[in-house]
Amino acid sequence: MVNILITGVAGFIGSNYVHQVLVKNRGTQIIGLDKLTYAGNIENLTSIINEDDFIFIKGDICDRKLLEKIFHKYEINQIINFAAESHVDRSIHDPQVFLKTNILGTQTLLEVAKTHWSIDTSWKTGCKFLQISTDEVYGSLGAEGKFNENTPLDPHSPYSASKAAADLIVQAYHDTYGIPMNITRCSNNFGPYQFPEKLIPLIIHNALHHKKLPIYGDGRQIRDWIYVLDHCDAIDIVLRNGISGNIYNIGGNNELENIQLVKEIISILNELTEDSSICNNLIEHVTDRPGHDRRYAIDSSKIESDLKWQRRFIFSDVLRTTIQWYMDNPVWIDNVITGEYQKFYEQNYGNR
Ligand SMILES: NC(=O)c1ccc[n+]([C@@H]2O[C@H](COP(=O)([O-])OP(=O)(O)OC[C@H]3O[C@@H](n4cnc5c(N)ncnc54)[C@H](O)[C@@H]3O)[C@@H](O)[C@H]2O)c1
Repeated sequence: MVNILITGVAGFIGSNYVHQVLVKNRGTQIIGLDKLTYAGNIENLTSIINEDDFIFIKGDICDRKLLEKIFHKYEINQIINFAAESHVDRSIHDPQVFLKTNILGTQTLLEVAKTHWSIDTSWKTGCKFLQISTDEVYGSLGAEGKFNENTPLDPHSPYSASKAAADLIVQAYHDTYGIPMNITRCSNNFGPYQFPEKLIPLIIHNALHHKKLPIYGDGRQIRDWIYVLDHCDAIDIVLRNGISGNIYNIGGNNELENIQLVKEIISILNELTEDSSICNNLIEHVTDRPGHDRRYAIDSSKIESDLKWQRRFIFSDVLRTTIQWYMDNPVWIDNVITGEYQKFYEQNYGNR
């Protein structure tokens, strides 16, 4: 029996991942842990929160005592660490919580895992620590080339620096103590349940409310967009088949300038709503983000060749279904923005 601890389970990627795993029904016992910060929403888990093979615990990855209890009670043998402070702009305003959760939280998880998984000089069969990281640890590219797993780390924001530090701590626990681990570094994700401070849901939400669409600087920064369920497939493959100690890059092979992407969203929204006032005039160029990386592009050839991962989704199709999802779920957006789901959780599951 696999007893897997999934941290950050109520966030964007964690919740998409756990839905996917439970749908596949692999007989896995999932313990979902989440602090339910502003970015974590219990509503993202509504359809599975009462399933027998899913247990939700509200808590902090920095809380060692709680982690000890969870490991002991549920005999955890695998961890996927999604939990993080994840928004670059917030890290610029207030870096400290990023260092605490992203670095110290990861180290606390590693330490507890080490204590529970090491038996004399070997490791419990099947145990694994999977750290979910980002392409942002590599810094910024010029017009040519792509990041591969050997690209030196060169983070530029407090967010990416904290993620790079966490990656190095995970590697150090592998090199020093031998803990079985993998790290995945993925490009920009999009899909349902993404907090509407991130580019795609922000643009959809603002456009639907005829608000300005803020674009940093000239908007010509390039990002490589991947659909969240393609990322989740890759995580699943790395969890099962990744060679311990290895890092795997995951990309969408889909580079777009931010401004191009925003115009594409406007055009789809225009068509879906038949509202011609949703148009490029809503775009407003604002002062660029300090230290803004110009271009990210990911070389995914290692995971494709070694682990046979392939993307399943076509960008234009899933961009459209993602937009439709946000249009169909206006209450979800309103409630995550106002923190209504957090209040609901406290009232209904407060002592869980
Ligand atoms: N979104 C992307 O495009 C992207 C790309 C590559 C990698 N990543 C990485 O994937 C992971 C998940 O990203 P996301 O977009 O789902 O983020 P998110 O902000 O939507 O979710 C993060 C979750 O972690 C929880 N959390 C925060 N601090 C915690 C703590 N101290 N203890 C327990 N839980 C805590 C939050 O409540 C939230 O549910 C992050 O590690 C991020 O760095 C994200």
